Amino acid sequence: MNDARERRPPRGERGFLDDLPTPRLARESDAKAFVELFAVLDDESEFMLYEPGERRLDVRAMRERIVHGRRSGREILIVAAREGGRRGDATPTLDGFVGAFRPSYYRGGHSLNLVLGVRDAASGRGLGTRLLVALESDARTLGIRRLGLGVLATNARAIALYERAGFTREGCRRDAVRLRAGYVDELFMGKLLCPPDD
Ligand SMILES: CC(C)(COP(=O)(O)OP(=O)(O)OC[C@H]1O[C@@H](n2cnc3c(N)ncnc32)[C@H](O)[C@@H]1OP(=O)(O)O)[C@@H](O)C(=O)NCCC(=O)NCCS
Repeated sequence: MNDARERRPPRGERGFLDDLPTPRLARESDAKAFVELFAVLDDESEFMLYEPGERRLDVRAMRERIVHGRRSGREILIVAAREGGRRGDATPTLDGFVGAFRPSYYRGGHSLNLVLGVRDAASGRGLGTRLLVALESDARTLGIRRLGLGVLATNARAIALYERAGFTREGCRRDAVRLRAGYVDELFMGKLLCPPDD
């Protein structure tokens, strides 16, 4: 998927955001589509944490995760969903998601830790950016002060996207991730949603 940039027409000719799904909060009925999206992302991208087929993907567990995250306020899940799918099938197709965990302990409860993924077929059209914007808006509503994430140092595309969204590099965990091709550093990035002296 990493040669996608070469394949893509220039941004102005790409229908940037035009026909893309508007991000919305995940619903219980998204569980099946979520499981499918995770499997696709694990297959397509070495930038997610799991090897293809490595994580146990279970629709019921996903449904419980969506419900628990909403009730507890500990996880925000936002999806880019194409609703309806095939005739008579209400299951949406998810093109991407952003998830954000809020630590349950007091000293971390002002921050969210993010994971972002857009399937290859939908990438390069502003969806990742749009998901991030939606998450930031929800975070501000919740009074969150800090957004943070980890990204492989080799993931130039994601790093560019995060920097454009106002994230800065905060540190590096050397050889934190083991790929088939070798060890890779993980960058920490963060964005404060209010001035540091506030
Ligand atoms: C990284 C990812 C979220 C980007 O999603 P997306 O929907 O393509 O994002 P956008 O279209 O909003 O922005 C992509 C931007 O990346 C940048 N970019 C793309 N290819 C690049 C490359 N090879 N080098 C540097 N920057 C690149 C461009 O600035 C591009 O913006 P453009 O529209 O001006 O071309 C998506 O590709 C993805 O999910 N990849 C697999 C999983 C992953 O890496 N997740 C992040 C884990 S931290």
